Amino acid sequence: MANDSTNIKFYKEENIPLELHKVRVVQKLHLVPIERRLEALFEGGFNTFRLNTKDVFLDMLTDSGTNAMSDCQLGAMMMADDAYAGSQSFFRFQKAVEDVLGKKYLLPAHQGRAAENIISHAFIKKGDIIPMNYHFTTSMAHITQHGGKIEELLYDEAYVINSKHPFKGNMNIEKLEDSIKKHGAENIPFIRMEASTNLIGGQPFSIKNLRDVRKIADKYGILLVLDASLLGENAYLVKQREEGFNDKTIAEIILTMTDLSDIIYFSARKLSSSRGGGICTNSEKIYKKLEPLVPLFEGFLTYGGISIREIEAIAVGLYETLDETMISQSPKFIEYLVNSLDKKGVPVVTPPGVLGCHIDAIQICSHISQKEYPAGAFAAAFYLISGVRGMERGSISNQRDEYGNETYADMELLRLAIPRRVFTLSQIKYVEDRLCWLYDNRQLIEGLRFVYEPSVLRFFMGGLEPVSDWPQKLIAKFKKDFGDSL
Ligand code: F0G
Repeated sequence: MANDSTNIKFYKEENIPLELHKVRVVQKLHLVPIERRLEALFEGGFNTFRLNTKDVFLDMLTDSGTNAMSDCQLGAMMMADDAYAGSQSFFRFQKAVEDVLGKKYLLPAHQGRAAENIISHAFIKKGDIIPMNYHFTTSMAHITQHGGKIEELLYDEAYVINSKHPFKGNMNIEKLEDSIKKHGAENIPFIRMEASTNLIGGQPFSIKNLRDVRKIADKYGILLVLDASLLGENAYLVKQREEGFNDKTIAEIILTMTDLSDIIYFSARKLSSSRGGGICTNSEKIYKKLEPLVPLFEGFLTYGGISIREIEAIAVGLYETLDETMISQSPKFIEYLVNSLDKKGVPVVTPPGVLGCHIDAIQICSHISQKEYPAGAFAAAFYLISGVRGMERGSISNQRDEYGNETYADMELLRLAIPRRVFTLSQIKYVEDRLCWLYDNRQLIEGLRFVYEPSVLRFFMGGLEPVSDWPQKLIAKFKKDFGDSL
């Protein structure tokens, strides 16, 4: 058991995660009737991205820009030094990056994908290969837009839904070396490691693994780029799960990881519970290579497209990442939900990861072929019967190959994000209850088909329709079981 300063045991109750914050600003929620939820689905093309929040009860689409901010962050926003150039707010951001991530050169960007654009623009030439533990949607899109190709090099264990492996986000070191030998180091501008690998269920890598990746990078003279968007939670799970790190602070673990990386980029929408992003490094040469791209794509070098108020919130949020009572909150709620569902037989990704609870639509909707998007159908069905909005993380989120063929995802997941300090335990119990009901009624769910398919990042604005009247059948069963309950 890790030396966890947030571990509070109960005398009589089962051990439940205890909130170590209090709620001082609230927002009223609405749960609209199921008939309205069906209309909303048709209006939004059965795509949860296109729902309007007035129709959403619990918004579990993402943690991006939706984590609860602290009183200190909100207070700092009032201190913003509005200036096009040379803002004091930027220097506070730079100091926080140096203190928390250990890098002295900072390039601000308006969010994570803007950082990916700049890095791809600077380093990738046509035909290059980017080995990585696993892709994220926007990172892959930027790499392929710049003529590169990705290679995903996880161990087989990573694809096992129900597993006990503590570090499913680890890079397969043998495959990495084989890939470099096959393609030639000159065609590999960088290796990308993603903290808490998002698309396979928020699964972390270990420090041992990152050290092994570093050794290979050094052996072949290749840069190591760290996507640090979910770095805080990865550090928390290292503390929980990796031998030798139980007694280390989150600050020490983060610095151990960032020291091993040449370039770090992040979505501040995740990392620091605010809105923005950035790239940082200790190499002046790399900094100089990237510097001209910030004013070109983002804005002047002391704001990079981020509002100055948000820059203040990022600076404070970075320091708060080091607070274990803060960084453990979302993983503990996720652990609670995942373990409860697992005990009741609902197939979920285990061990519990970060960002959210990931439900396996392949097993639940084994009667729906991947051609008809089981994860998309399950996400729509879950919204319909609960008002809870999750996100499809399956084949709809994949992109077609260069010949226009469908590429089916390795996993078909419904992701229910649990942003930091936003939901209460009774809301989590509601989610669990409705998921159990839907699991018991899963045979009523059928597939979806595209009626509007954008060519890039189709999952954002794509439109689909159900292949039959299955949503109406689901409503009829809901009414039978729940009567006039919302
Ligand atoms: N890298 C990772 C690992 C991410 O999870 C995200 C965003 C990005 C990069 C891009 O950052 O959104 O600021 O441009 N993930 C969000 C999500 C969108 O819902 O998981 P961004």
